[in-house]
Amino acid sequence: MEEFVAVPTHAGGPFTVRMHDAQRGPDGPTMPLTIEQSTEGHHAPHAAVDKSGGRVRGMFAEIAPRYDLVNRLLSGGIDVLWRRTTVRRAPPPPAGGAMLDLCTGTGDLALAYARAAGPGVRIVAGDFCRPMLDRGEQKSHRAGLAIEWVEADAMDLPFPSASFDLVTVAFGLRNIADTARGLAEMARVCRPGGTLAILEFSLPANRVVRGLYLWYFRRVLPVVGNAVARNASDAYTYLNQSVEAFPTGEALAALIRPAGFDRIESIPLTLGIATLSICRREG
Ligand SMILES: C[S@@+](CC[C@H](N)C(=O)[O-])C[C@H]1O[C@@H](n2cnc3c(N)ncnc32)[C@H](O)[C@@H]1O
Repeated sequence: MEEFVAVPTHAGGPFTVRMHDAQRGPDGPTMPLTIEQSTEGHHAPHAAVDKSGGRVRGMFAEIAPRYDLVNRLLSGGIDVLWRRTTVRRAPPPPAGGAMLDLCTGTGDLALAYARAAGPGVRIVAGDFCRPMLDRGEQKSHRAGLAIEWVEADAMDLPFPSASFDLVTVAFGLRNIADTARGLAEMARVCRPGGTLAILEFSLPANRVVRGLYLWYFRRVLPVVGNAVARNASDAYTYLNQSVEAFPTGEALAALIRPAGFDRIESIPLTLGIATLSICRREG
């Protein structure tokens, strides 16, 4: 198995995950781990979470009308700051460039990029759930921001190779049924030398903070989320389960790198409740 090292740049701050060249196999990186196979960086053993396309799409279609409200409520608005940090750390391309926000949902990250981008930047927002996309499209019309809204499956993207300078995915990678295939598609549509920015939930490293957070995450969040979103698909229990089962840190880097990315910078946000991974497309 490949070995990764975490190199702190300053205490508690961002760190870069690199693979020792000497520890690569003779034929290059080995096959990516699947979620079920990976053991490092998982916070709690869970039965495999059902992420079949139909289930995930149906669940988001059901909560789409109240998705933004529940996000603000359950995160206390911190999710807005995380998206701002993402835009600052992985800035939009210059004029003439193009970016894709994948698993865009109701488009909050795409909208943040559209506000920050200069003129002449193509911004595409893709998701396979039409009701979520429709919400985003309404918001961009109201705000007068030019975004192309495209119904697209992250595992089979309808874009030519090397179309984008920047690909972003916020709280979406964890939901894609086949993580490795989704990452391979992101690598394919990202131009060599381009950037992939992944914003995803993670669990705090500090045991005390993590204990408190897990109590909130397991006991409070599903009850409040399911009640406010008024859904029958138990979406906020799925949220908790899918986050706890998803790899983080070195285990996530071990999934990202074989897709064709190097220089993976992992930035913990808000005591590690979320992590921003900024990855450079090899080339
Ligand atoms: C938790 S939401 C995140 C939305 C948004 N990025 C945000 O930051 O709020 C996850 C989104 O991923 C989408 N999704 C999950 N699997 C997908 C796939 N295979 N292809 C495209 N979109 C997918 C869902 O439809 C949903 O809108």
